[in-house]
Amino acid sequence: MTNLTAVVNNEQTGYQNFSAGSFTFRRDEYFAYIDYPDGEHVMPIDAFLKALMRDIAWGFFYGSVNFDDVFGTTNHYGNVDMFIGSMNEEYVNNGKDFMENFPSEELMEVFQAMLSDWTIEGFDPFAAPQETGTAWGPKNGNNDEAISRTRQVAQRMIGIPGDTEIRSDKTGYTVNRHFKDVDQSQPVVDAEPGFEDQIHGFNLWAHLSRSDVTWNPSIVSICKQSLLCPTTEEFILPVEHGNDRVEWFVQVSDEIIWDIKDGKSSKPRASLVMRAGDVACMPADIRHQGYSPKRSMLIVWENGSPEIMEKIKDGTVPRVGVEF
Ligand code: PHB
Ligand code: FE
Repeated sequence: MTNLTAVVNNEQTGYQNFSAGSFTFRRDEYFAYIDYPDGEHVMPIDAFLKALMRDIAWGFFYGSVNFDDVFGTTNHYGNVDMFIGSMNEEYVNNGKDFMENFPSEELMEVFQAMLSDWTIEGFDPFAAPQETGTAWGPKNGNNDEAISRTRQVAQRMIGIPGDTEIRSDKTGYTVNRHFKDVDQSQPVVDAEPGFEDQIHGFNLWAHLSRSDVTWNPSIVSICKQSLLCPTTEEFILPVEHGNDRVEWFVQVSDEIIWDIKDGKSSKPRASLVMRAGDVACMPADIRHQGYSPKRSMLIVWENGSPEIMEKIKDGTVPRVGVEF
């Protein structure tokens, strides 16, 4: 770790400044400031922290995580680019784009330290706006408990004998205020004698209705390379996700409006309203950001194929799910 260090304490606000390569980061009561050799980029601190939380929790995710139209990271699975304007045609055309590459674990350390120092008591960057405090103001404690949530890992299907007990109705999570109408009953499964610990079902919607985080897809089933990642959504997806592969959305309840732009240039491409029952295939060359007017349920269907990494590298990854 030679080029990555936490630097000085900011005397006025009490927050630390951070640096990674030729980027430096500081926050004050309202904003995050990102300095790079060509200038400075400013973001509202709440938007910055919510995006930073996702980038950390998802391990830089698939493709690009755009904190806004300008700043973000691109995952190369082992190393990661951090950029200003590289995914924005105006910045590129005007020679204002800047990018630096980092070993993933080194940048991750800086991001984690920054998130911990800049998240104050009472603010939970994973929570819906009405279910948390604010990010504004001078340094005041921390909320490491909220930002260090780790996924609960099932060894077998949730609730099946022998698994860790993680069914959400048994671990104290309460039903979200927007999901009071979700049926909480569990399926009745009559297994043949001898198969009781192998045949099982549980109510996924009841499970999801108790999620205390928003915009955080979690794998609930893996079938070969097919990953089903449901999530509950409210307000705005804090990042514009730039896909590097096709990704499917299944809208399970309520409604999400998707703003879809070109992945590279950031030019607007489409606006899509998805209502319960709608399914969409998101192409590999776009970025998207969702708006959910009330808490809703979404299944993100990801392709976890190892071969796809090679196709992404050599540019042969399919752009759409099916060509007719
Ligand atoms: C996505 O970028 O595909 C995505 C990310 C987080 C969500 C939903 C969708 O909660
Ligand atoms: Fe996506």
